Amino acid sequence: MSTIRDVAKLAGVSVATVSRVLNKNGYVNKETEQKVTRAIEQLGYQPNAVARGLAGKRTGTIALILPDIANPFFPEIARAVEDVAHRHGYTVILCNSDDQGHKEQSYIEVLKKKYIDGIIFASNTLGEEDVQKMQRNKIPLVVIDRAPNRQLCSVIRSRNYEGAKLAVQHLLDAGCKKIAHIYGPQEFVTAKERLAGYEESVMHFPWFSPSLMVPGYFRVDGGLNAVKELLAKHPDVDGIFAGNDLMAIGALKGLHQLGVRVPHDVALIGFDGISLTEITEPELSTVAQPIYEMGSLAAKVLIEKIETGLEEIQLHELDVTIVERESTRRRQAT
Ligand code: RIB
Repeated sequence: MSTIRDVAKLAGVSVATVSRVLNKNGYVNKETEQKVTRAIEQLGYQPNAVARGLAGKRTGTIALILPDIANPFFPEIARAVEDVAHRHGYTVILCNSDDQGHKEQSYIEVLKKKYIDGIIFASNTLGEEDVQKMQRNKIPLVVIDRAPNRQLCSVIRSRNYEGAKLAVQHLLDAGCKKIAHIYGPQEFVTAKERLAGYEESVMHFPWFSPSLMVPGYFRVDGGLNAVKELLAKHPDVDGIFAGNDLMAIGALKGLHQLGVRVPHDVALIGFDGISLTEITEPELSTVAQPIYEMGSLAAKVLIEKIETGLEEIQLHELDVTIVERESTRRRQAT
């Protein structure tokens, strides 16, 4: 039996366009509509009755639940989601959960009553029961970034473990002889994977010690305090990988306060790729996540689910890249 994807492929358009032709909602030019109609006839496609039924209940609204809109990483996600949603005729409701499970639960309850068409969730507390509850209520769901379990629903995330190994290798290539890690909250799978990537990369070195890994809580002040604790224990550390850019910015301030020169005495690299790393002194090297692409892809996957009723679970793990700036450009010791 032909699917909506077969129709889209034959007509040379997106699944969302086929859905707009079927449900007669949203703009489709005449030529495209004719191509889609011909493909439907040629394949003898029968629209999914559930998807068409759902079409009647649409509100043209999607919700984006983020854990901390004060962290510049998340507004860039929101920017991308809103751009794609707007292009497809959807409005976005932004919710801030403060990484608190009870706030996330209350948002889900409120959003259910508002008949929103779908939810994009950056959460670490989402459990199997929560996902099944949303599926029972026919609320399409996509999880982004912090995905506790990737079998439950579609997930868009970065390769955190591989990114941590890239960060350590970058510091080794810069000539660092003893590398420490400031890690984020380990209840977040993203922070956990970065810590694992760091540890796997350095544990074979004779200088390695677990005390080279200190918490920074994904915050600026956490990074500042962590670097002071680190250098008190290990004054010979000459490379630091921070598990996100905010902690790296805090570490940079802490190193300045200690009179430590970056990168001459200590090379420093962060993780995320937020724009603040371009205005620090020195500018910060980072492991850049494809933040805008993550948000854009999450919105496209969700809108396709809303408009087609397709339940297939998609896992997109996106590559990260090293952005080298002054904070790791170590000149030979003078
Ligand atoms: O800076 C916030 C962190 O939380 C980012 O690294 C992002 O991946 C999220 O997990």
